[in-house]
Amino acid sequence: MTRAAITGWGKCVPPTVLSNADLERMIDTSDEWITVRSGIKERRISHVEPSEMAAVASEHALAAAGRDIGEIDLIIVASCTSDSVIPATAAHVHRLLGAPVPTAAFDLNANCSGFVYSLINAAKMIESGMHSRVLVAATERLSALLDFTDRSTAVLFGDAAGAVVVEPTEEDHGLLSGFVQMDSSALGYLEVPNDGLSGMPARSLEPPHGGITMNGREVFRRAVVAMGDLSVRAVAEAGLGLEEVDLLIPHQANMRIIDATAKRLKLPSEKVYTNIHAYGNTSAATIPVALVEALEQGYISAGANVVFAAFGGGLTAGAAVLRWGERTEPLGRSEASLAPTDRSLMELLEANFRVYGYPEKLR
Ligand code: UT7
Repeated sequence: MTRAAITGWGKCVPPTVLSNADLERMIDTSDEWITVRSGIKERRISHVEPSEMAAVASEHALAAAGRDIGEIDLIIVASCTSDSVIPATAAHVHRLLGAPVPTAAFDLNANCSGFVYSLINAAKMIESGMHSRVLVAATERLSALLDFTDRSTAVLFGDAAGAVVVEPTEEDHGLLSGFVQMDSSALGYLEVPNDGLSGMPARSLEPPHGGITMNGREVFRRAVVAMGDLSVRAVAEAGLGLEEVDLLIPHQANMRIIDATAKRLKLPSEKVYTNIHAYGNTSAATIPVALVEALEQGYISAGANVVFAAFGGGLTAGAAVLRWGERTEPLGRSEASLAPTDRSLMELLEANFRVYGYPEKLR
């Protein structure tokens, strides 16, 4: 039986840090409020387009898999913050990686559930024989959508990219189960209003233009239910008992949502990987970035049963169970990194202030 396994993994986190202390100087908030309510301490602000972060993460994933881009026949880019509407971000990633003409590429926008949606799609295409090696890159430049006059959302999001190479295996590992869903009855609870043109308004649109708006309490409530339900269902579908789960890698939106999901799976905290304190909510990128760090930190051993669970705008949700293979070390390493920037944090955020208005303490 052919299954789809993750054979390579990579991440790209931009160097510029926006800390809770920085936010305290900009808006009426506190490190304590942000930490207690969300678990976030700092997040990254990108100086490049989503495709550039995706390309760096992908180079690392390809090296880890021991693969050249010419051996990949499909690239899926999970993102809601595209470089451009036309072409898709996947086209930019394809070009940056030097992918040859027959390699297919498309964007998949399932908001924060984008990686889980993409991983399941990649796996099913491999299982069906339609594609033989798929690169899934999740990349988000959410900082471009942040309105720093709205403290309830501005403190939550950040930028990053993560990527995995997915390949067929005949062995007893790979994707065991996966579920995705959409609840459009609540689509207005998390949105970018008036965003008909581009995911990058800070660069391309004149005001009035909305930043991210969210009904935090309603999204929180639904996230807890959906991530818990789908995770339990995916574990059962994989033929596993809850006690056989070795690691939960959840979407990193809120530490309290993560704790509630872990509780539904009856998992102790050492079986839950979190890095929300370092990067905040990077939408589709949270899970692949966390996967890379979990591997680097020895959280995943050969044969481990790993649960991915996500929730986001739409409202989308997804969960998947993957049994890890033998290899937990990369086959090779890439030197790829982002071009450096000499722009300061405030220079990077200036475009947001011009579009959405200056935050209260900078007025
Ligand atoms: O990735 C996609 C999915 N997204 C999520 O899953 C996010 C889900 N929601 C959440 O994570 C939480 O709802 C938040 C972290 C966004 C908010 O936490 P909360 O416990 O639901 O707070 P709240 O929205 O109920 O606000 C509580 C209070 C309010 O003040 P009052 O009305 O009680 O006086 C807010 O005005 O906290 C106030 N507040 C803030 N205070 C300091 C809101 N934002 C801030 C802030 N700093 N940044």
